[in-house]
Amino acid sequence: MIDFSDPEFLQDPYPVLNATREATPIFDQMGEDGIPRWFLTRYDDIFRVLRDRRLGRVPEPIMSRAEVGLPPLRSDWGPYNDVEQWSLLMLEPPEHRRLRQLVYREFTPKRIEGLRPVITAHADRLLLEASERPQFDLLADFAQPFSIHVIAELLGAPIEDWPLYLDWSHRIVKMYELETTGDQAASAVQASAEFASWCRDLITERRARPTDDLISGLCTVETSDGRLSDSEIISTIVLLLNAGHEATVNSLGNGLVSLLNSPGAWESVRSTQVPSRTAIEEMIRFDPPLQLFERWVLADGVSYAGRDFERGDKIAMLFGSANRDPRHFEDPDEFLVDRGDASHITFGGGIHTCIGAPLARLELSVALERMAALTPNLRLVDAPTRKPAFVIHGYESVSLSA
Ligand code: HEM
Repeated sequence: MIDFSDPEFLQDPYPVLNATREATPIFDQMGEDGIPRWFLTRYDDIFRVLRDRRLGRVPEPIMSRAEVGLPPLRSDWGPYNDVEQWSLLMLEPPEHRRLRQLVYREFTPKRIEGLRPVITAHADRLLLEASERPQFDLLADFAQPFSIHVIAELLGAPIEDWPLYLDWSHRIVKMYELETTGDQAASAVQASAEFASWCRDLITERRARPTDDLISGLCTVETSDGRLSDSEIISTIVLLLNAGHEATVNSLGNGLVSLLNSPGAWESVRSTQVPSRTAIEEMIRFDPPLQLFERWVLADGVSYAGRDFERGDKIAMLFGSANRDPRHFEDPDEFLVDRGDASHITFGGGIHTCIGAPLARLELSVALERMAALTPNLRLVDAPTRKPAFVIHGYESVSLSA
């Protein structure tokens, strides 16, 4: 049993995750929603579950919500349900394959790499502004505006609207926690309605005057499978803006705190002895920003960690535990800035593997490289405090002095 709301656990989940993983590869625990979950703790099982096509992110391919114990979709959550409906994260094949291929066509390595100059320019501008102050908050003053500007550049969304996406995104992602209050849900529904209406205006505008950005691409992309509907484009824009910034912000916060707390690590990056693209792999392994993902069992004959599952069972994967599994990583609790092992679980695996991983890696490595160049004396001002949430794992703020 893990108490996922215990403040001590949330501040540093690894002692409990490590002890649990070493005691057992699997345990069951009732969720707040009244649905029991089987928690997997070890790397190998989680690696395989992510790639196992007999499991899915949603139960609908084989069972109704009622059959697996989920309540009906709430009609008063309409706008939230609508933006979620065509999210890649809510689909399984064949719909998932069709939509992912269309989105992927627009998400080319060339488009991502082409963003390097603009990513560097945003990093430099924000760092120079922040470092003029005696101390600054890495998250609010750098990582949040940085990642939201980058994702807006990729999509071709108006940059000046970034405070709006930030607000909508913060409110919507509360729905992904293990526990969500009524007020948080109402706020997420309202934010979904505003976000969708903003997307609709943007789609109309891009259809009338297409440019070479990703939203224009989504509006016009065509394959033998057809085009994307407006609802699919809206869900995709909302998913990309939400998924595309929150995890990146927390990766930078969690990762930089780990790096600055590890003796000699900053010096290795600052002197370029360890390239930033190597250092960021350890930053995202050591303290991943997304700690838990779930799957439904959609077929008979599925067994993991010595347990035979039934259709409709729910499996929860503890990513932070997998990334610290000594069966896979040597000295997993050591932050080794030059480890450079990209086999961590942080970006998932299988058909839902993170579509934005190349962009996230580019953003993180440019940010680190520019910090090393422009703010070589960077240090933590005090020990940062965690946000009171488990799944989206990050700090409230990270005070730095340059
Ligand atoms: C360090 C930052 C990031 C982390 C740790 C991360 C992690 C993940 C993980 C673990 C998944 C798979 C979920 C599952 O299997 O259930 C995922 C999916 C996804 N991510 Fe990321 N992500 C990051 C950044 C981004 C960025 C920058 C974008 C967009 C530009 C993005 C877009 C997506 C999308 C669209 C999916 C859904 C893919 C699908 O279901 O087919 N992510 N991400």
